[in-house]
This record gives sequence, C-alpha cells and structure tokens, in this order.
Amino acid sequence: MSLNSEKKNHLCLVKSSPEGFIEHLLKQMTMQEKIGQMSQFAGLGGWVSDDLAADVRSGKVGSVLNETDINVVNELQRLAVEESRLGIPLLIGRDVIHGFKTIFPIPLGQAASWSPEVIKQGAQVAAAEAATCGVNWTFAPMIDISRDPRWGRVAESLGEDPYLCSQLGVAMVQGFQGDSLDEPTAIAACAKHFAGYGAAESGRDYATTNIPENELRNVYLPPFKAVADAGAATFMAAFSDLNGVPASGNEWLMNDLLREEWDYQGMVVSDWDSIHQLTVHGFTANDQESAFEAANAGIDMEMVSKTYAHHLAYLVEQDKISSHKVDQMVTRILRTKFDLGLFKNAMVETEKLPELLNAEHLSVAKEAATKSCVLLKNHQRRLPLDRQQLSRISVIGPLADDGYEQLGTWIFDGEAQHSRTLLQALTQQLGDSVAIDYVRAMQNSRSDNAYQLSEAVDSAANSDVAILVLGEESILSGEAHSRANIDLPGCQQALIESIAETGTPVVLVIMAGRPLTLENVVNHVDAILYAWHPGTMGGEAIADLLLGDAIPSGKLPITFPRTVGQVPIYYSQKNSGKPASEHTFLHMNDIPERAEQTSLGMTATHLDTHFSPLFPFGFGLSYSEFQYAEIRLDQTQISMGQQLTATVRVNNCGDYAAEEVVQLYIRDLVGNVTRPVKELKGFQRVSLQPGEARDVEFQIHTDDLAFYDRKMTLRAESGKFHLWIGGNSETETRAEFEIL
Ligand code: NOJ
Repeated sequence: MSLNSEKKNHLCLVKSSPEGFIEHLLKQMTMQEKIGQMSQFAGLGGWVSDDLAADVRSGKVGSVLNETDINVVNELQRLAVEESRLGIPLLIGRDVIHGFKTIFPIPLGQAASWSPEVIKQGAQVAAAEAATCGVNWTFAPMIDISRDPRWGRVAESLGEDPYLCSQLGVAMVQGFQGDSLDEPTAIAACAKHFAGYGAAESGRDYATTNIPENELRNVYLPPFKAVADAGAATFMAAFSDLNGVPASGNEWLMNDLLREEWDYQGMVVSDWDSIHQLTVHGFTANDQESAFEAANAGIDMEMVSKTYAHHLAYLVEQDKISSHKVDQMVTRILRTKFDLGLFKNAMVETEKLPELLNAEHLSVAKEAATKSCVLLKNHQRRLPLDRQQLSRISVIGPLADDGYEQLGTWIFDGEAQHSRTLLQALTQQLGDSVAIDYVRAMQNSRSDNAYQLSEAVDSAANSDVAILVLGEESILSGEAHSRANIDLPGCQQALIESIAETGTPVVLVIMAGRPLTLENVVNHVDAILYAWHPGTMGGEAIADLLLGDAIPSGKLPITFPRTVGQVPIYYSQKNSGKPASEHTFLHMNDIPERAEQTSLGMTATHLDTHFSPLFPFGFGLSYSEFQYAEIRLDQTQISMGQQLTATVRVNNCGDYAAEEVVQLYIRDLVGNVTRPVKELKGFQRVSLQPGEARDVEFQIHTDDLAFYDRKMTLRAESGKFHLWIGGNSETETRAEFEIL
C-alpha cells in the first residue's frame, strides 16, 4: 500500500470504533514502529533538530516532552502525521503542575482549600492554557500521600490524607480532562508517582520506601484507585524502590495490581530515565535487563532513556517478551492518542483556545489563592487590618515583593513579570491613605544576616503594624529539594524577634513549599497567615485577606509538627498500646531528678516535645467564628450495606460572612488490623452569613468504612464506631454508632 492510501484508510477508520481502528493500525506496524510508539523523547525547547525530525519521520518517536513552542509542536505533529509511514501523531507531554502561564498555588496550597471545585477549575485553566501551546498531556496530579514535610515534593502533593487526596485528585483529573479528552481545551492527566514515592526514607527525594502491603493498600493506593476509576488517562511509575523492587520494574504493582486487580486500561509511562536507573538501583545488571523488567512489568512508554529502543526488539526475538505483550502496550498508547482526538486532528488551532493569562484565568487563580491561605493565629483579632486605623504600615521581608518566589516549584512556563506581589497589591489597595514602608531586610530567605536589620526595626517601630513576609524561596522545595531542618531558614527567627521587640503588632505572612516548624515563632507574632507559594495572583489574594476584603477559609491538608523530630506525625496515626495523653505526658524539664524509670508516663511520645502537633490536620481559623451543635444520627445501628445520616448544625456566630470547611471523621474501634485513631470520611465547604445557622448533612455507607484486612480483603467490619464533625481533626464533637 502506498503511504497515502494507508493514511486514507485509517482516516476512514478513525470514525469507526477505537478498537477496530487500533487493531487495523497495529497490524500494519513493524516492531520498530511499535517500539517507536513506546519511546518518549525530550524536546529541545524551541526548535526541531535534524536528528529529531528524522526520528519522528522514521516512526521512532511516540511522544515528545518539554516542547511548548506552538510552531515547533505543530511542526513535530506535521512531521509525524504527514511524513512518517503510518502518520501516527505525537503525545506532547509537559509538567503542568499548578498552572501553565497563570500559576495557581502549589498543589499543597490548593489542597488547603479543601475544595474540589477550586482544584478542578485550576486544572481546567491550566489545561486550556497548555493546550494553546500544543501540550496534550500533563504529568499531574501528583497524588503521593505525603507525611514528611522534609520531603521537597510535599509541595507538589495534595497532603497527608488518603480521602482528601482522593477527592482532590479526582477533581484535578476532571479539570484537566474535561468532559471528553478530545475537546480542544482538554489534556490527558497522569497520576503519579505510582506508588509510595512520598514515603521516601527521612524525606530524601528518590530514597528507598518500605511500605507493608496493608499500609500501601489502606493509605498510599486509595488516591490512585480513585483516579483510575475516575478515568485518569495515564499513570507514571515512581522513581523509588518499593519494598526492594523499584516501581519501574515492579511486576506486582504494575501488572498484578494495576492491570489485573484494578483493570486499569490507561497507559503507564516511566519516570525520567527511571527504566535505565533500574541498573543504578542494583536491580538489573544492564539496560537490556532493565528493558526486560520494565516491559515485563507493563511500563508502556519509556521516558527519555533508550532501553526499549535499544533492546526490546531483541527481547521479543528471544521470546523473553511476547509480541502480544508489546501489542497490548502499544494499544494503550494508541488508545490514548485516539481518545485525545489526535488521529482526527493533531494540529493545534490556537484560535479555538483561550488567551493565556486572560482576566478570567487570573480571577480563578486569585480565588484559588484566597481559599488556600490558612490563618494559623489571630491574637486579639489583630486581623483583618482596619484601614481606618492605619496611617503607616511596614512591609518587611524578601518575599513581599518577589514575583518569582511566590510562584513556587514546578513553574516551567510561569513568568515572574505577571505576578502580583503583596507589596504591589497593598500599595494599590491602600492608595495614598496609608504610607507603606518596604524593607526587604534579607537578600533571600536563606541569608544568614539581615543586611537591612536596623532599617527593618526602625520601619516597624514607626508603623501601626509590621507585615513580615517570610518563608522559603521556591528552590527550597520541589523535586530533589528536601530539607533536614524545616525551621524558617537563615536569620528569619532573629529578624522576627527583633521586630517583635519594637512592640509594634506583627503579622507574619509565610510563603513556603511545605509545613515549617513554627513553635519558636508563634509567640513572637500576633497573627500568622500561611500562604504556601500562592502563584501569580498571590499578592492580591493575601492583601484582600489582610484587609478583610476576603475571609480566610483554608484548612491544613497536612499536620504541622512542633519540631522536625516528631516527623512523621499525622492525625490518622495508630493508637499503639500506650498512647500518650495529657494525664501521663511529662516533659523532660518536669521530670524529677533520679525519677524511677517506671514512674513516668511510659507512653508513645518524645520527652522533649509535646505529643501533639503544633497545628493539627484540618486546622484553620476564620475572622468569623463557628459553633458546632451536637451531632444527630438518624440511626445508631446499621446493617452491612446500609447507610446512616449524620447531621450537625453549624452556626456562624461571628461578625463576618464566611466559609467553613466542615469535616467528618470516624474511628473504627476494633479491627482485624488496627485502625487509625481518626479517619476523614467527608467534608463540605459551607458559606454562612453572620448569625446564620445551617444543618450540614453527611451520608456514611458501610462501604465507606471498608479497609484492607490481614488477608488484603477490602471490607467493613461489624462493630462500634466513633464519629466526629467539626472544624479540624482535633474536634471533640462526637457521636457513636454501630455496624451490626
Ligand atoms: C521527573 C519527575 O519525577 C516527574 O514527576 C516529572 O513528571 C518528570 N521528571 C518529567 O519532567
């Protein structure tokens, strides 16, 4: 068949069923062309080299990542569609993690909104903007359960909790993928990093993970199962070694669990070079063995390294990998391309797509930033600031007016010049009525000396309020940017103390990519607003919150430890046989000299810090106040397969119209495997006027209470449960019920 007739033929078939189309195409493909589909090449960033063009023409390339110049992308697609033998279009991948040009808060910040809607809209905007530049596949959401704030990639995660992460991860997938992948503004999502990557030893990125299967199933896998069920088009294998078998060659994980048990039909891509790295792990002796292990596990596409290109054909010839297996893998890749509509049209028509950074996108990003900020402290209602009472404010710190650093990690396409900084926003909003004195104070967030310490102190001393904007620069979190000490870096503590000594009220705004340990800071400041890295519109969002034009409503998606030695600390811990309690806990400084070993509390805690975290999961203040009445259950005993309704009346008894994230937790008192002391099972964001009270209702089905038992069977068990509803994970408003 001539080139043209082959293509015409599949153009007709494209209208038929995907299965028929793909089967037809597959039959025409040589082994080299199949392996080409399984190979992802790194783009060169703005041009097509002769080598890349030749590789695309000869069918050696299935996907290109990191190319976002629309002319280059369209040229690559043209080469693939018009000049390769079978005209198969390319997947164009990119890390669109929290926005494309319009940057949203880092994912951990977005998770603090506890709003699937916020997350979904953010992903929609990101997808539409990325699509404008030819990207049809993002490597997000990152849904690794993250319980170690030392880990740099905690910034990219949706936090510590399987339920919250599942809900938000699904929302992100829906946002990226739209109603149908072939819409011009939709791009394929990629659930990563499968699996367990967040449990890296001591938070060192890429380090080993050892996660017992039961914990894997009950904690780390649920978000992946949720997004697989919600139609996430692709998965990415983790870099990490899971219980001795790196994910990129882990047959149990990729094949037995993902394919067979979950029946996942989407495609799986390796991480960057991770198949080659199987050798570095000491799992394989050479690239050929790596190609075998990865293909055998079922990694459909290899990112950047070339073990498939160099060795897969030989492995098939030797019958080590069956050609049937290769066909299955290629089918999944072609199916993804089909679903994206690429066989119908791979060229991007920018006129069908929205403008980058348009007003609506910026407003959605501002809303996300506003809802992501968490008010951690507000002594004597220092916030919101009263414009009428202000004549001069002091704005201090290296992050107050730095459009780049507020964007956070993973912003390949974001640009600082579009950012609205806090200083700009305050200047704009306060106009001439309030004098603003800005002192950067430190060169950067890590500086050991404040080069403008005396200016900062003078400025604060002569102002009505000092707004300190501190935290971490972007580079201190993200991939391969873990920290062993998670205090405010550099001389920030000393700077805060010096400013506090002036007696001027201090409002601390923190921008950071992770929870920081703030125990030594809390008592020196009047208010703390935790803004994460809030993105392009961060400054405007924060200014609105400080001035009361918006009301804080974010809640922590991850526990804030007092000190790094408490890590891992998370709300859904197991009870242990000797749980710590206020009655038994004794701080080291209170232990009498030569106390008897057994006279002390003998509980599961540290002697030199309290057993509780500094701020619990789910915590976040408002300028208003919410009261929770007693919980009402429609029944206190249910049979297996039934559901109950839990209702609580929430009253906004403060002075502001505000939103509250109402959270429902349960405890399964006795389990075939021990159960956490609390587990989040529902949440709702409600908006209440001052003085308004509303019933908030949750349905709990016995399936929602299922967990993997000792035999790795997912099931709920009969027995007693506690149920709490409140504004954070330490709420005490409790009810009880039983499954018969
Ligand atoms: C490595 C990272 O682990 C992964 O998350 C990312 O998507 C790829 N590089 C591609 O940039």
